[in-house]
Amino acid sequence: MRNLDHVDQLKIERKGRSDFVTQIDRGAESEIVKTIRKAYPQHAVLGEEGGRSDIAGQDNEVLWIIDPLDGTTNYLHGLPHFSVSIGIQVRGVLQHGVIYAPCTQDLYCASRGAGATLNNRRLRVSNTKELDSALIGTGVPINANHLDAYLPMLRYIAETTAGIRRAGSAALDLAYVAAGRLDGFWELGLKPWDIAAGLLMVQEAGGMTSELYGGADVLATGHVLAANPKLHPQLAEAFSDIAKRSPAA
Ligand code: IPD
Ligand code: CA
Ligand code: CA
Repeated sequence: MRNLDHVDQLKIERKGRSDFVTQIDRGAESEIVKTIRKAYPQHAVLGEEGGRSDIAGQDNEVLWIIDPLDGTTNYLHGLPHFSVSIGIQVRGVLQHGVIYAPCTQDLYCASRGAGATLNNRRLRVSNTKELDSALIGTGVPINANHLDAYLPMLRYIAETTAGIRRAGSAALDLAYVAAGRLDGFWELGLKPWDIAAGLLMVQEAGGMTSELYGGADVLATGHVLAANPKLHPQLAEAFSDIAKRSPAA
């Protein structure tokens, strides 16, 4: 937040055409990792900027999955919509997640079996039953292969729902599904740090998460569909029909 007014002075590196990294991303991640290491020296860490580090001689059964700044492109443009996302896996199963939006000071928390909260108030996904009343979040891929698969889905959602939002932080998109602000969300090619906390958040708020066509391996593939339990099966079926018609998907 301290640097948000000085984004023009930041040293920006490009990891790809639309993949930027700044000292903010790196600095935030190293602060987070330092804090975790102090409290839990035996835990392993997977951070977007620093990669995975396991502790020698430990079984590393606890893994912290960290995106120190989700929405870097928004941040660099002074758009006040970005977040910090941290998920915790224990023996490969997501157990805890937090997503924090510094500009609104919204803190989303979830623990397996204990529900999800926003600033300590219980979260619940929306009750929207029909696609034609649904507001759906998404992320537009820049990778050409993903785009070929994505565009027919975008067309379908544009033609059948009440609206689409591309807000620029996948972690917050999932938090919004958990909070019932969005009725659903889909995006292709996300990374574990974008979604680890958010997937648990949606599940613990009573929503469903999966691969685009309903498969379970979403953390590994990064092709994410999340929605309330009324809409999720409808969306998974529609995406699966689209994939059958369009070989790119
Ligand atoms: C990005 C954001 C964005 C999504 C991209 C992600 P980053 O994360 O979550 O919404 O569309 O796919 O890479 O790079 O800002 O941490
Ligand atoms: Ca991210
Ligand atoms: Ca990031």
